[in-house]
Amino acid sequence: NWSMTTFIDDEIKKIRETVGDKKVLCALSGGVDSSVVAALIHKAIGDQLTCMFVDHGLLRKGEAEGVMETFANKFSMNVIKIDARERFLNKLKGVTDPEQKRKIIGNEFIYVFDEEASKLKDMDFLAQGTLYTDIVESGTATAHTIKSHHNVGGLPEDMTFTLIEPLKTLFKDEVRKLGTELGLPDEIVWRQPFPGPGLGIRVLGEVTEEKLEIVRESDAILREEIAKAGLDREIWQYFTALPDMKSVGVMGDVRTYSYTVGIRAVTSIDGMTADWARIPWDLLEKISTRIVNEVENVNRVVYDITSKPPATIEWE
Ligand code: XMP
Repeated sequence: NWSMTTFIDDEIKKIRETVGDKKVLCALSGGVDSSVVAALIHKAIGDQLTCMFVDHGLLRKGEAEGVMETFANKFSMNVIKIDARERFLNKLKGVTDPEQKRKIIGNEFIYVFDEEASKLKDMDFLAQGTLYTDIVESGTATAHTIKSHHNVGGLPEDMTFTLIEPLKTLFKDEVRKLGTELGLPDEIVWRQPFPGPGLGIRVLGEVTEEKLEIVRESDAILREEIAKAGLDREIWQYFTALPDMKSVGVMGDVRTYSYTVGIRAVTSIDGMTADWARIPWDLLEKISTRIVNEVENVNRVVYDITSKPPATIEWE
């Protein structure tokens, strides 16, 4: 009979025994798994834990600030924030192929992490938010890869850390319960799935700061309205994407030539298949109006009504 408090007590004991008086490094991504790992290990060993948060500039609006607010301020953890936004943008300059963008973002993450981690002294352990399903899926990965699901946070080859993976017996719903029990806020615990390459694959084609800003702002409006309507736990994933196109519009008496924002919202059990979400038309209208009025350089909003398959959830 599995109980959350027993799990926490047992794991804390194990972590303390394993770590002793040594130090642990943890890469925080803003996602559920790494957040729960950090909170759990911090409860076990406090200041012996150092977290590193690489801001690659591809997170959604407010997320980088949220990570620092929760972990550095509320939990008083040692969090090192690396501002790598310029670096990622430079690497992505001129790159339009989705798979190449994924590779660049994944590799760059490892380089930055590697570089910054090597500046830290005496880190013996590396904590990772590996779940039971991660182990099972990678062990039986027979299906051919349609997209290389490159998760940020891979372990650089030449690093000599010992791994600690305290979540590796858990399923996602148990990780969420654990997160809540450890005092993490709902925004983190109930965060919708978010791809490792982040907004880098939601800006279609070349990634620029101007386009990222459009996705961040339009996505924030969408999230706000979906939450207000109470649909945030019903819809599996909902976000905006920016196709690499402009079209003609009219605002007041003036002809405009600006970007089109795409809204993607799906219901799903596991992301393998998905159905486009039947968001009420009135709500879609409200979101569309707000996006065009509030986000600069946008004059058109479209809603994606394809399911997966044949489309994928992400647009790249
Ligand atoms: P697709 O677009 O393949 O997405 O239908 C299925 C689920 O996977 C997420 N996704 C990714 N996650 N790295 C990730 O960590 C990636 O490169 C990546 N591509 C897609 C997507 O958000 C959805 O939840």
